[in-house]
Amino acid sequence: MQKKSVDILGIETSCDETAAAVVADGKTIKSSVVASQAKLHEKYGGVVPEIASRAHIENIYPVITEALAQAGIGRDDVDAIAVANQPGLTIALMVGVTAAKTLSFAWGKPLIAINHLHAHMQSAVITDEHLELPAVALIVSGGHTSLYDYRSPLEPKLLGSTIDDAAGEAFDKVATILNLPYPGGPAIEKVAPKGNPKAIDFPRSMLGKNSLDFSFSGIKTAVLYHCCGQDMKGRNKVYKMSEQEIADIAASFQQAVIDVLVKKTERAAKRIGAKTVLLGGGVAANTLLRESLQKWCDKSVPPKKLLVAPKQYCTDNAVMVASLAYHKLKAGILADLTLEPKATGQ
Ligand code: KG4
Ligand code: ZN
Repeated sequence: MQKKSVDILGIETSCDETAAAVVADGKTIKSSVVASQAKLHEKYGGVVPEIASRAHIENIYPVITEALAQAGIGRDDVDAIAVANQPGLTIALMVGVTAAKTLSFAWGKPLIAINHLHAHMQSAVITDEHLELPAVALIVSGGHTSLYDYRSPLEPKLLGSTIDDAAGEAFDKVATILNLPYPGGPAIEKVAPKGNPKAIDFPRSMLGKNSLDFSFSGIKTAVLYHCCGQDMKGRNKVYKMSEQEIADIAASFQQAVIDVLVKKTERAAKRIGAKTVLLGGGVAANTLLRESLQKWCDKSVPPKKLLVAPKQYCTDNAVMVASLAYHKLKAGILADLTLEPKATGQ
């Protein structure tokens, strides 16, 4: 009889997406269900933890049920339950962790704890069997902007991270300043092509010539001052701006953020002698970022291979959770029912 695949049910509730997926042997995606809460948070211009948590509670059962149904499997076929338990909004993570612990106990299946950022890295390598190591991984999301030395899926080592705002957070806040819809990343990406990326010379914070850390609060403030006057003493000019002016700000902002992301990835790659570059996280869906990093990888000596998460697996999903869990299961790294959600984690 043919050996059954190892089917892992992944659960993700770290921020504002309730997600569940079934992945076989770490790479065959049998199902992926994502219930986005973007509409609920839109009017606040950012994620409200209490609202996120309540929506997760409503969504978690139907989302898991749908993931199993789409995969065409039942509880007996599930080999393990994996859940992102850190980092993220604690009261949001709590919902996924509680669901995963309950299923693990009730079904008698192993429980696997997943770091959400490591899962974002996994989404870049799911389909690649021949990864040349070492790799440098750039993870850019709404809550994090981090560089890693990646030599195995189990123990990526943090090289640098943001000291203030994350890149995605800057996209979201700048979109709010420009009266663009939430989430801000896709909204800015949509208007930016109509603008001139050189129109405004927004700051590119490099934090010293050897730093692998990031800072995006300065550029956010620079956009705010550009729109509302230095020290907020002027009137908000956005309402009077033409579409072209808004597009110029969006394009110049996007370019400045991407310049920093690419430059820091280059630094990190040189530092660890990377042969491959991995790109994941919500902001990795940005086409200009993908193209700019590809350009740098191509012209780098020797050229580097760039592995980017497919666009639908850049933003939060449970495929990346279930896929990474396969490697932990193989290595025997299991959690137990004392598992707790944690706000932090690298
Ligand atoms: O990874 P993710 O779904 O959630 C977190 O772990 O935070 O990332 C969400 C972030 C948001 O800030 C969103 O604006 C940003 O990713 N984002 C983008 C794009 N799509 C999503 N940023 C720039 N360009 C995009 N196309
Ligand atoms: Zn994320």
